[in-house]
Amino acid sequence: MSKKQAIIIGATGAAGQNIVEFTADHPWFEIGCLSASERSHGKSYRDATAKAVFFREVPKEEVMEMKVIGADHVDPRDYDVAFSALPTEIAKVQEAKFAKHIPVISTASAYRYEADTPVLLPDVNPTHIGMIEGQRANRGWNGYVVPGPNCTTIGLVSTLKPLLDKYGVDVVSMVSMQSLSGAGEKGLRADSEYRINALKNVIPLIGGEEEKVFMETNKILGDMVDGKLIDASINIHSTCTRVDVKIVHTEAIHLGLGKAASAEEVKATFEGYRSEAQEQKLPSVAEQPIIVVDEEDGPQPKKHGDYPKMVTLVGRLRENPLFNNGISYVITSDNLEKGAGGGAVLSAEYLQVKGFL
Ligand SMILES: NC(=O)c1ccc[n+]([C@@H]2O[C@H](COP(=O)([O-])OP(=O)(O)OC[C@H]3O[C@@H](n4cnc5c(N)ncnc54)[C@H](OP(=O)(O)O)[C@@H]3O)[C@@H](O)[C@H]2O)c1
Repeated sequence: MSKKQAIIIGATGAAGQNIVEFTADHPWFEIGCLSASERSHGKSYRDATAKAVFFREVPKEEVMEMKVIGADHVDPRDYDVAFSALPTEIAKVQEAKFAKHIPVISTASAYRYEADTPVLLPDVNPTHIGMIEGQRANRGWNGYVVPGPNCTTIGLVSTLKPLLDKYGVDVVSMVSMQSLSGAGEKGLRADSEYRINALKNVIPLIGGEEEKVFMETNKILGDMVDGKLIDASINIHSTCTRVDVKIVHTEAIHLGLGKAASAEEVKATFEGYRSEAQEQKLPSVAEQPIIVVDEEDGPQPKKHGDYPKMVTLVGRLRENPLFNNGISYVITSDNLEKGAGGGAVLSAEYLQVKGFL
């Protein structure tokens, strides 16, 4: 099988660099073009990312030496698939331009809330790809846009899905402690005002984040009925905060299940959860998507990287007497790996095995 030619737009940013890491040596995809803004046009990828600090492993030499091309200089028809990691307002225009011709897998929120667009997490809502043909027909596109969820929503829905399937979920309260890299380039660059203010600090507001968590969680956990998506209608209240942690989001979750379950039963439900993405053995999927950690003071962002890639870690799992059938736990989820690059590449892998690429 020859590899699909991929263009990565927004390749120089935090999420884009993570997509580059996941595609640089991918068995099914080859990086055909690295694209970004006019600021980066014509620079080598090494020079265009010189100030950035998001790589876990710096990609191989031939990728670092590629010339970055401004998004307005690119013809989408030269590629099989686009990965987009653009700021939302830019994504709205550029993703439509690409989707006219080729599939676009996006980390941006530009299309997430459109009625004809799935928000895909292959190990949570694979059936939602059923919306793609409708989107193509509505918009007259040969390609399509499939965004992934917001990085905070991902860890939450990944753990709600097995609970919803087994017990039902009535009400959810969540407090996030989100890492600086979740704010993108401005979160980590040493000279950024946002970063300077966040150092040794907690910022108790991330504009628009709580609304995203509510809408996306109910959309992703919704059911497809006769080709239409019916939202899950779960009561969700969240407080999203920024903390002085470089990478990996932490969330404290309290919820009421539809029927009673002990903490031990919930642990077994988390650990036993598998989806079609695991059955398909997709290259980027975690064999066991949710791991309940043994340490009584886990999970922690610092230790998240000790576990396999693309997992959601759960700890502090206990019953909660304040809620009907109440359960509480803490999760960590990598906002770049699972939240952006790895998540986008996993979606592309799933779309490929389903014949959509
Ligand atoms: N950071 C995360 O953890 C995370 C997780 C999930 C989703 N996301 C989403 O992913 C997207 C990117 O976020 P980020 O954190 O990676 O942001 P970022 O670090 O600020 O990167 C933005 C990228 O977009 C490019 N860009 C900016 N303006 C452009 C334009 N007019 N035309 C073409 N390219 C342009 C930048 O290129 P230059 O370098 O040339 O300026 C850069 O490559 C956002 O929509 C964000 O919400 C981020």
